[in-house]
Amino acid sequence: MKAKVIGFINRKGGVGKTTLSICVATALTLGEQKYRVLLIDADTQRSAMKWVNRRETDPLFPVVGLPTEMIHREVKHHLPNYDYIIIDGPGEIGAITRSIVLASDVLLIPMGPSPVDIEATEDVLSLLEQAKPFKEAMDQEIRVAFVVAKKDSRTALGRDIVEALSVYQQPVEPRTIPVGTLNTHICTRVVHAESAATGQSPLEVEPTGKAAAEVIALTIEILKFTDG
Ligand SMILES: Nc1ncnc2c1ncn2[C@@H]1O[C@H](COP(=O)(O)OP(=O)(O)OP(=O)(O)O)[C@@H](O)[C@H]1O
Ligand SMILES: [Mg+2]
Repeated sequence: MKAKVIGFINRKGGVGKTTLSICVATALTLGEQKYRVLLIDADTQRSAMKWVNRRETDPLFPVVGLPTEMIHREVKHHLPNYDYIIIDGPGEIGAITRSIVLASDVLLIPMGPSPVDIEATEDVLSLLEQAKPFKEAMDQEIRVAFVVAKKDSRTALGRDIVEALSVYQQPVEPRTIPVGTLNTHICTRVVHAESAATGQSPLEVEPTGKAAAEVIALTIEILKFTDG
C-alpha cells in the first residue's frame, strides 16, 4: 500500500497550517489503527522541525524538513513506508506550494472564520486551477477542502460565513474545482499554543479535553474525505 498524502496550504500565515499538520499527524499515530505517519515540513521557517526539537521525549512520528520545489519527486521515495504523509506548507504561494499540490492526494486549506480569510484563499484556488492539467496528466484529480481553524468557541459560525464558504462548493467559471468545507471546526484554545511549546499537542497533554476531541473528529473526517 502506498501512503496517502495530505497537504496543508494557504497563502496566509498564522492560520493554523502547522498546528493542524502536527495535530492530525499525532491523531493518526496515536489512534487505534496506529498509522505510520511522516510529517514533512515544507516551510523555510521550519516551524514543525523546531516543534519536534522542543520535545523532551522521543518523537511520535518522524519529521523531515523539505522546503524545496521538489517535494513531489522526493515524496515518492517515502510512499511505500507510511500510511499517511502530512505536508505542512509555507504561508505563501510559490514553487513550494505548487510542488505540494502536485505531491498531495488531498489539499486542506486552513483559515479563520472571517470574510477576509476566505477572500485570501483566492490565490490558492487560482494556483489549484493552474495545477489541475498537470494533475490530470498524472491521472490525479484535485481534492480540496477548507478547514475552519481558530474559531471562537463561544460563537457559532455566522450565517454570512457559512454562505460565503458554500459558494465555493459549486464553482462558477472560470473556476472548475469544487471546494467544500469540513464540518469539524477547530476552536482557538490555549492548550494548542501551550502544548506546542513543549513539542506536543493537545492529544498528549489533555487527551480528554475539548481541543483533543475536535482534533480527533477532524482527523476522522479527513480520513473519510481522503479515502472517499
Ligand atoms: N486552535 C488554536 N488555538 C490556539 N492557538 C492556535 C490555534 N491554532 C494555531 N494557534 C496559534 O497560532 C499561531 C499560528 O499558528 P500556526 O503556526 O499553526 O499557523 P501557520 O498557518 O502554520 O503559520 P505560518 O504561515 O507562519 O507557518 C501559533 O502561535 C499557534 O500556536
Ligand atoms: Mg506554519
